[in-house]
Amino acid sequence: MRVLGIETSCDETGVAIYDSDHGLLANALYSQIPVHAPYGGVVPELASRDHIKKILPLVKSGLAEAKLSKDQVDGVGYAAGPGLVGALLVGAAVGRSLGYAWKVPTIGVHHMEAHLLAPMLEENPPAFPFVALVVSGGHTLLMEVKGVGQYQLLGETLDDAAGEAFDKVAKLLGLPYPGGSVLAKLAEKGRFNRFKFPRPMTDRPGLDFSFSGLKTSVINAIRNVELTDQIKADIASAFQTAVVETLVIKCRRALEQTHYKRLVLAGGVGANLELRKQLQKLVDSMSGELFYPRIEFCTDNGAMIAYLGCQRLMRGEKDGLAIDVRARWPFTKASALR
Ligand code: KG4
Ligand code: ZN
Repeated sequence: MRVLGIETSCDETGVAIYDSDHGLLANALYSQIPVHAPYGGVVPELASRDHIKKILPLVKSGLAEAKLSKDQVDGVGYAAGPGLVGALLVGAAVGRSLGYAWKVPTIGVHHMEAHLLAPMLEENPPAFPFVALVVSGGHTLLMEVKGVGQYQLLGETLDDAAGEAFDKVAKLLGLPYPGGSVLAKLAEKGRFNRFKFPRPMTDRPGLDFSFSGLKTSVINAIRNVELTDQIKADIASAFQTAVVETLVIKCRRALEQTHYKRLVLAGGVGANLELRKQLQKLVDSMSGELFYPRIEFCTDNGAMIAYLGCQRLMRGEKDGLAIDVRARWPFTKASALR
């Protein structure tokens, strides 16, 4: 089955075509960074308008890249939430309309479920079951994953998501949007242990996270120093170390609790090289295995949506005629997804 995937939940327009027999046939991404950069963050209305401009040209170029005509597409999947409603509606309306015109089934999929399964697009995908750490700009989730659609939430953030914390601290340090990756780059120049920030909620049992206190610690540290470039790098490094160590501690607990050996890292913060390195050390120490997608499949992309759309359409799931998106969409049990 060949499925066109559409991602428009936030500030990237992504279109891809996934074939259940031959894998990814096309993958195109348009990033809105230049649109939002002057404002220091995503402006929802501008995001929606820009998706409208880019989506159909991307669908056309996706079909051309895959050397397919429209009647060779068997289904359409689109991100139906969680995300910015206006932005999601662009992908949903286009996805549903293409399905109607092409007379193929369509399916609105969960953006975080798509992140979680993105490692399946790689050459050496993880076998089920596994523990997944899904860390993005809006979510921090630890999941027990037994198969597509078989998920158990082990822990989540009680306040800020890990990526949100990266973005907020980047802003406090005066770094340009999108902050997380810029902060990670700056952290490489930081001197070891010049600052020390807490590892929130690691001193008590449980698998939930909290990152807003960490942000407050950074605010306090900034108040007491002259913010030179070197000090900024030192703070970035100490902050990144604190987030990474916190995530590693919780992943170790989740692996111990489930007795699983496989750990999957996904979502935008999964692009963080220090996090990858420290999680690799963790699984090595536990004789386990770590899986993560290539960097462009950690951050938002159409490929993960096409993959998940294909999985769900192959199971016979599909949308009705209504166009339905959700700003919030709890990702607890997959059976509750639809
Ligand atoms: O998954 P994603 O592209 O979008 C959401 O679904 O939210 O994740 C974006 C998040 C942002 O908060 C961004 O700052 C963070 O991922 N991010 C990073 C890195 N690259 C992206 N955080 C830390 N280190 C990075 N290298
Ligand atoms: Zn995302």
